[in-house]
Amino acid sequence: MSAVMINLWYVVAAALFIFGLKQLGSPATAVRGNVLSSLAMVIAIAVTLLNKEILTFELILVAALIGAVIGAIAAQKVEMTSMPEMVALFNGSGGIASLMVGWAALYNMGNTTFTDVTILLSIVIGGMTFSGSILAWGKLSEVMTSAAVVFGAQRIVNAGILVGLVVCSVLFCLNPSVDSPYLYAVIALSLLFGVMAVLPIGGADMPVVISLLNSYSGLAACAAGFAINNNILIVAGSMVGAAGIILTNIMCKAMNRSLGHVLFSGFGAVKQATKVEGEVKPIVAEDAFLILEAAQSVSFVPGYGMAVAQAQHVVRELGELLEKNGAEVTYAIHPVAGRMPGHMNVLLAEANVPYDQLVEMEDINPRIDNVDVAVVIGANDVVNPSARNDENSPIYGMPIINVDQARTVFVLKRSMGSGFSGVDNPLFFGDNTRMLFGDAKQSIAAVVAEFKG
Ligand code: TAP
Repeated sequence: MSAVMINLWYVVAAALFIFGLKQLGSPATAVRGNVLSSLAMVIAIAVTLLNKEILTFELILVAALIGAVIGAIAAQKVEMTSMPEMVALFNGSGGIASLMVGWAALYNMGNTTFTDVTILLSIVIGGMTFSGSILAWGKLSEVMTSAAVVFGAQRIVNAGILVGLVVCSVLFCLNPSVDSPYLYAVIALSLLFGVMAVLPIGGADMPVVISLLNSYSGLAACAAGFAINNNILIVAGSMVGAAGIILTNIMCKAMNRSLGHVLFSGFGAVKQATKVEGEVKPIVAEDAFLILEAAQSVSFVPGYGMAVAQAQHVVRELGELLEKNGAEVTYAIHPVAGRMPGHMNVLLAEANVPYDQLVEMEDINPRIDNVDVAVVIGANDVVNPSARNDENSPIYGMPIINVDQARTVFVLKRSMGSGFSGVDNPLFFGDNTRMLFGDAKQSIAAVVAEFKG
């Protein structure tokens, strides 16, 4: 295929990527968006493989087969709640692939200085994305502590690594070659820097890091695209880079943290929240039913526990029963509820909850005092009033859904345990709070059974 045809097809693929991304913005069109983006990727891969510079198809096919089998098995097996870990591994794979592509491009004859710089960038960004993502995976899957790891001279050590990385990069660019000792130093220092950068981040800041690493994997791919002069890699890489940074920004806003704070402050490592004490008022399903039956407006506030319990279907059933009973039913969604962006939206869509009943945090909060019952289903951090009231709390400043201001609050969870950030929750001791202890699916099913008589 001629270079012109290849680039024409790349333009088609790029356009499909853009339309696909646009459609992913709404649950109603997301499936179509996914199909369009996949089609774009198929075109991009097929056209690239038709490039006459390809030397061996056998190795490519073997690698593609191995990758496809691993991908298919992982997609079947991985739990929805483990998606962030999976995304971390995806980011890491993207990073190491860019590092390899950059490294391989060094073997090309007649690279310009510009190409050498982009090779270096794909190696550096790819390397730190890889090791940072593996560490993030370790933290999220709890094979190691998920808390921020901070030590005395951390910033000095990190600054030292960064200076070393810059110096070795410059020395490498002055005389780029595959045998350059500075190449190996750059690879080693980038890998080390990725680890050191993610080490002091933990707790509720981890999703932001995953999103940022996602952005880095895009930038690394973009640099690799320049290194091997492949236009679709440049386009797709910059889209991932831009999407990742936009999502990072949205998530930082949702947690009221600046990116600088996330990267350098060490979540939860410094502050110690004020101890919460008080009287807990448990309730049983029969009594919860009586209160719900009399309610005019009910707002469900789902969180990570709903995903664990897989309670979304029975929640939708309860929502329908309440509506039939004359109540206005809403589902209040916090942007970082659960363990991945859009987690609650995906679960509720799977259970066929109508989109128009989903209400964002900014829209429910101004009218939450008119809600008769806020039913918190396995959410904790995203409804923790200490984020609003306790300056000593590590989550202070994070916007929350103000369920404590509803007339009555039911909190459905199994124990008094804390949420992802490990911070105590004064909501559980509120005058208007009733704790419905137990697995969320079973608790809601018990209320549904009462409704059905
Ligand atoms: P969390 O604060 O993590 O609280 C979840 C609660 O669910 C726990 O307190 C747990 O209490 C309860 N739970 C677990 N299994 C349950 C079950 N089977 N039935 C009933 N309850 C159950 O959740 P959240 O309020 O959704 O907040 C999300 C947190 O995760 C935030 O800190 C956020 O920053 C962080 N995070 C978010 C993301 C994204 S992008 N959404 C990604 C990673 C981390 P019991 O153990 O007592 O049952």
